[in-house]
Amino acid sequence: MDFKRYLITAALPYANGPVHIGHLAGCYLPADIYSRYLRAQKRDVKFVCGTDEHGVPITIRAMKEGITPQDVVDKYHTIIKDSFADMGISFDIFSRTSNKVHHDTSQAFFTKLYNDGVFEERESEQYYDEAKGIFLADRYIVGTCPVCGNENAYGDQCEKCGSTLSPEQLINPRSALSSAIPVKRTTKHWYFPLDKYEQWLKEWIVDGKKDSWKPNVYGQCKSWIDSGLQPRAMTRDSTWGVPVPLPNAEGKVLYVWFDAPIGYISATKELTNQWSDYWCKEDTKLIHFIGKDNIVFHCIIFPAMLKAHGGFVLPENVPANEFLNIEGEKVSTSRNWAVWVNEYVQDFPGQQDLLRYVLCANAPETKDNDFTWKDFQDRVNNELVNIFGNFVNRAFVLMHKLCNGRVPKLHIDAMDDADRILIQDIENAKFKVQTCLEHYKFRDGLYEVIDLARKGNKYMQDKQPWITAKTLEENPGNQALIDNCLHLCLQLTANLTILVNPFLPFTAKKMCGMMKVVDRMLEWENAGRIDLLKTNYPLLPPELLFRKIEDTEVAAQVEKLRSNLTKATTAKMEDQKAPATPEAIPEPPAQKAEITYDDFAKMDLRVGTILKAEKVEKADKLLKLLLDMGTETRTVVSGIAMHFKPEDIVGKQVTVVANLAPRKMRGIESQGMILMSQNADGRLIFVSPLEIADNGSEVK
Ligand code: 2FM
Ligand code: ZN
Repeated sequence: MDFKRYLITAALPYANGPVHIGHLAGCYLPADIYSRYLRAQKRDVKFVCGTDEHGVPITIRAMKEGITPQDVVDKYHTIIKDSFADMGISFDIFSRTSNKVHHDTSQAFFTKLYNDGVFEERESEQYYDEAKGIFLADRYIVGTCPVCGNENAYGDQCEKCGSTLSPEQLINPRSALSSAIPVKRTTKHWYFPLDKYEQWLKEWIVDGKKDSWKPNVYGQCKSWIDSGLQPRAMTRDSTWGVPVPLPNAEGKVLYVWFDAPIGYISATKELTNQWSDYWCKEDTKLIHFIGKDNIVFHCIIFPAMLKAHGGFVLPENVPANEFLNIEGEKVSTSRNWAVWVNEYVQDFPGQQDLLRYVLCANAPETKDNDFTWKDFQDRVNNELVNIFGNFVNRAFVLMHKLCNGRVPKLHIDAMDDADRILIQDIENAKFKVQTCLEHYKFRDGLYEVIDLARKGNKYMQDKQPWITAKTLEENPGNQALIDNCLHLCLQLTANLTILVNPFLPFTAKKMCGMMKVVDRMLEWENAGRIDLLKTNYPLLPPELLFRKIEDTEVAAQVEKLRSNLTKATTAKMEDQKAPATPEAIPEPPAQKAEITYDDFAKMDLRVGTILKAEKVEKADKLLKLLLDMGTETRTVVSGIAMHFKPEDIVGKQVTVVANLAPRKMRGIESQGMILMSQNADGRLIFVSPLEIADNGSEVK
């Protein structure tokens, strides 16, 4: 399909904290590079984003700080917007979901689905904090972990032993907000029947996107679809959010993951009267840039909503990145283990492109990657300064010294093979970078840019015009050799400016200044040409493009991380207990203390097969399982009901902790525990033998 328009979205960050460099590397930087590249191609592009200003974390933060949710989002909207602007993220609009246009748009979307009879209305029992007067997400219920005795386990997970829990399993449950004992209340919500879209999603993604979507994105979608889709509530009990536009829906708002992606539509509406061209015409290419924790919402839920509504284009691609760890550890906002963008901008004024460079060169495109300050220093000093900066600087300095500060002539008759190879390299670089960018391979694209600078350095080193200059008295004709070398080096510099512009726009601007060329030169079609700078054109002296990073700066940044962590840990101990964002996927638990082999050997782990599985009455999260353990059968109650349909798991082999002391849950004695692993997206996976094992056989 020949696309006429490009609509680029980057995930709307929650307005409950500043953005860190993991956010930048995850989606904003790649989305910006891609948008800048498309603009350089003179394509019709709209790049939209804004803050996601609803959801429970914002109300909780407001409650804790004694301010209103509006105060919270106002504060962080500004901080986030400024951070992006400082880093050169070139949104066409940075909106917010608290705007009226967004409320109107998302309510109209909901109403259309409601009127079309799409939603299922369901009543369920949910925990309620009578002291605070609000319904509690599982994350906001704390109590004693039935597995390890940790007194501050959450209603969805114990961070000490890693067990997945349900609030019913906690001993002495209490509200994390008021310490009141939560009570169950019946509440009504509107569910989107994702299950009815399963077949369509299978055809659209599983059959249709195998070759075009990144394997990490495709794989996650496929495994969601394969494990069966369930209806999902699209409303919540809260006073903060977009009110549900129905009579008798007082105190109910749209689920934040229902309204947030509609925020892309509202932002486009705010940007242009032609918004419907971008959202409704088939020849628009819609691309969602996100981090991997948002895959299911952008690839499955939002497209199903768009499909149910009708009349909208669907995303052509969703190039999600993995996570960026910091100094070997996962980013944790609650532990303040993060490099905050607003702090980087303060600590390294005017050095935005250094961070853009390192985050792109080390982008977590196919797997989680690690950012370390040492690597930041190495890449800046060894690649940007020594290769790119050095080449451009030498070309300018030598041109001023050996060619009177003007672009020298290219003497065709004096050209040699090395010149011709360099010209070919310049032409090839354009296509290499372009191919990478078209396929969302930003790291590889940036590598090709640096590689061209590397070739320029080698060419100059081989030609050594400063040596040739010494022969001029004897042989004035050699000026042609010097001219040719510097002519080509300067044309290569002009090409580098075009190619680097999507990645390092501040640098490209400086280079345009040095060459006294206008922005039009940066148009992509100019790349590959070797007549960009006119012969005899006077150029300015070189500016320093990049500065080196000193050892002391690396040490100071590492120290800052460690001391932030200590402060955050102390604050957390005093503030029992500030839960992490419930809308987000919980972070994996920290590694536990070392144990001896004897400790491990105390566990009796065995293989069992699920013979029967059924829901436990009045417990949304529990399944009662009957297991074949070889010489006996056992009953195990497991908190996995939100993840699996009972009929889908009968026959599965699982690993069972067979000597765990029996305990009663909802009146049923559970005689063991089954082992599960949990993905970053929150999905549970059975820990099963790869081949069929004997039931009752030991796992050691
Ligand atoms: O994960 C997040 O930060 C969400 N606020 C992303 C929302 S993206 C889109 F749906 F708005
Ligand atoms: Zn525990």
